[in-house]
Amino acid sequence: MKTRITELFGIEHPIIQGGMHFVGFAELAAAVSNAGGLGVITGLTQKSAKDLANEIARCRKMTSKPFGVNLTFLPTVNAPDYPGYISAIIDGGVKVVETAGRNPEQHLPRLKEAGIKVIHKCTSVRHSLKAEAIGCDAVSVDGFECGGHPGEDDVPNMILLPRAADELKIPFVASGGMADARSLVASLAMGAEGMNMGTRFMATKEAPIHENVKRAIVAASELDTRLVMRPLRNTERVLKNAATERLLEKEKALGSALKFQDIIAEVAGVYPKIMLDGEMDAGVWSCGMVAGLIHDIPTCKELIDRIMSEADALIRQRLEGMLGGRRAA
Ligand SMILES: Cc1cc2nc3c(=O)[nH]c(=O)nc-3n(C[C@H](O)[C@H](O)[C@H](O)COP(=O)(O)O)c2cc1C
Repeated sequence: MKTRITELFGIEHPIIQGGMHFVGFAELAAAVSNAGGLGVITGLTQKSAKDLANEIARCRKMTSKPFGVNLTFLPTVNAPDYPGYISAIIDGGVKVVETAGRNPEQHLPRLKEAGIKVIHKCTSVRHSLKAEAIGCDAVSVDGFECGGHPGEDDVPNMILLPRAADELKIPFVASGGMADARSLVASLAMGAEGMNMGTRFMATKEAPIHENVKRAIVAASELDTRLVMRPLRNTERVLKNAATERLLEKEKALGSALKFQDIIAEVAGVYPKIMLDGEMDAGVWSCGMVAGLIHDIPTCKELIDRIMSEADALIRQRLEGMLGGRRAA
């Protein structure tokens, strides 16, 4: 399939793996890229710029295809060494960066000078337009369904994607709630040029995370996520577990007096325990509603091949058939 996104990134299929903390290691990024999509290493999971340089080198050994690096700009007082991370990306010859969190404007000149394509993840049309105005090459439009941080506007993709299509000139991918061929074809119909998946790629053979996490995703339904940190305007969609329940109790009890310090036990530094050690109640962890559509743990290649062949059938048989007056399959 050829879209403005496959052309922009030099990939075979319009499928991107979103950056994921303690999931987006070289193994997953390489597997997605080898399967014809765009794999993405999560920059900040690497403790230093040097570690990121090593991770990029490791990924390069596992694939000759293009892959990207995610740079998440966090609202922290002690900012990570972003200039150092960007040097590692440039020196490592990476040609795609997925930015997220905050406006990436101050870092764009260096990335652009190095010939790097930037796709910025946004949860609203206004942020997408801003990304376009500052010179991003594409956006990833992340609907309310998404795992991770859906923003505070709560607009789901059935509305957000066509709204983005009405306003944007640069290409965009649909993100949040994407799992299969139906997601891809619907996204294309709504004006996107591809899709970005997070939760779905966690439940793959190559995702270098504990089996408990993969099993929890397969076992979960679309009713099993919760929104936490709403009172802090830092909303995160996470899987329901003991830590989530505890955190929500604190939110209820403290109301608008809630401070980040009150929930440190549930949110700070918990990812390695969950993703690597499989301690499922060690804290809250991002997971999308799309868990309800995930029933297996395929390889990335099996997953992407299945999506592309079913998308073909969906378009050529079901949709084309409807137009031809045949009864839908
Ligand atoms: C476990 C997990 C960790 C994530 N970590 C990050 C991150 O560090 N930076 C980021 O930009 N997005 C992060 N995301 C968001 C994903 O990149 C992607 O936008 C999101 O998962 C899309 O929604 P979906 O899960 O419904 O596919 C994370 C998502 C998950 C599930």
